[in-house]
Amino acid sequence: MPILSYPSSPLILTLLLLLLSFPILFIFFLAPSLLPPRRLTITTTDDLDDLSLFQKAISLSQSSTPAKSHHRPSTKSRLGSTSTFRPKIAFLFLTNSDLYFLPLWHLFFNQTHPNLYNIYIHADPSIPITPPTGVFADKIIPSKRTQRSSPTLVSAARRLLATALLHDPANAYFTLTSQHCIPLHSFNHLYKFLFNIRKLQKNLDYLSYIEILSHSPILWDRYNARGENVMTPEVGFDQFRVGSQFFTLSRTHALKVIEDRRLWRKFKLPCINVESCYPEEHYFPTLLSMVDLEGCSKYTLTRVNWTDSVNGHPHTYHPPEVSSELIHRLRESNSSYSYMFARKFSPDCLSPLMEIANSVIFKD
Ligand SMILES: *[C@@H]1O[C@H](CO)[C@@H](O)[C@H](O)[C@H]1NC(C)=O
Ligand SMILES: *[C@@H]1O[C@H](CO)[C@@H](O)[C@H](O)[C@H]1NC(C)=O
Ligand SMILES: *[C@@H]1O[C@H](CO)[C@@H](O)[C@H](O)[C@H]1NC(C)=O
Repeated sequence: MPILSYPSSPLILTLLLLLLSFPILFIFFLAPSLLPPRRLTITTTDDLDDLSLFQKAISLSQSSTPAKSHHRPSTKSRLGSTSTFRPKIAFLFLTNSDLYFLPLWHLFFNQTHPNLYNIYIHADPSIPITPPTGVFADKIIPSKRTQRSSPTLVSAARRLLATALLHDPANAYFTLTSQHCIPLHSFNHLYKFLFNIRKLQKNLDYLSYIEILSHSPILWDRYNARGENVMTPEVGFDQFRVGSQFFTLSRTHALKVIEDRRLWRKFKLPCINVESCYPEEHYFPTLLSMVDLEGCSKYTLTRVNWTDSVNGHPHTYHPPEVSSELIHRLRESNSSYSYMFARKFSPDCLSPLMEIANSVIFKD
């Protein structure tokens, strides 16, 4: 039984067609100028590309001996000699511009043995950058476009983790950083901090350093950024967490992140409320608090100054603010350990930072 009867006169039909054409006109001609710019979305192709990379990294981790023995760094090698297994730190640079503080990072890495770290760079391919040199040369991994208020920053971080997991089984810690981050200590200080305190807690896996907060005034809006009830049943509101975008994860947790498909199904959805859309500040803390909260320190090693933040951007330090006092102040934390990195710094801070690099930043 038809619910609507057909219009009886041609005049009504014409009027109806006219009315119908308004939404179409609106969508094609008016809306693009009124709505905010379109956000990047995760396509099926993107997901499949990533999945095949993740699968490789997962199967390598299941088969390789060094990866499994990361819990206990100095054991016998496979050849039976008592050579020491030296775990490495994988530095993951996530950028959509030149790495402004490359000379400072060069100094940071120059003070140590190349066997103790690896570098991986994810650079948005749509933005031309100066090819990095020195220890950063040829470190750009296959990258895709990234954009704020979209899940692409999460994808990029997962791509970095997978690439580093796959590349070197000795990578034991994975430090995500960006072009606006600077080191607050020497490499050796960081290395000793990450690996030596574990000796006191034998048989324990390494802790991950990621901020995990369950309370924040805008959490409800952020939870519903993809629409109401969209996150359930995978993530209930009581399971939804917030934390800083930059973290240092253990190998076990890096693997957990690329193994996850359940939460990603939800976090990869585009936001309908772009104002509250910060997937990269929620995906990692939520996932890790669900899979292994005990294995997380719940603190980040990267200091951020949220005082007077504007549009979700933290305070950006400018050259007049750079001083040895600032470095010392930024290191101080409420935890039992000090901050190792800080953001955000404007590119022109490079020169004043280089001036105090050896006398302050790398002196500890
Ligand atoms: C690194 O140190 C070596 C000497 O140890 C020096 O020759 C080289 O210029 C340094 N490189 C940078 C980028 O500082
Ligand atoms: C944080 O930023 C505010 C300005 O937004 C500044 O007054 C304050 O000194 C900064 N704190 C630190 C520790 O740098
Ligand atoms: C330490 O905690 C106090 C009180 O919660 C807070 O005001 C301060 O900003 C914290 N300092 C750092 C370095 O996080």
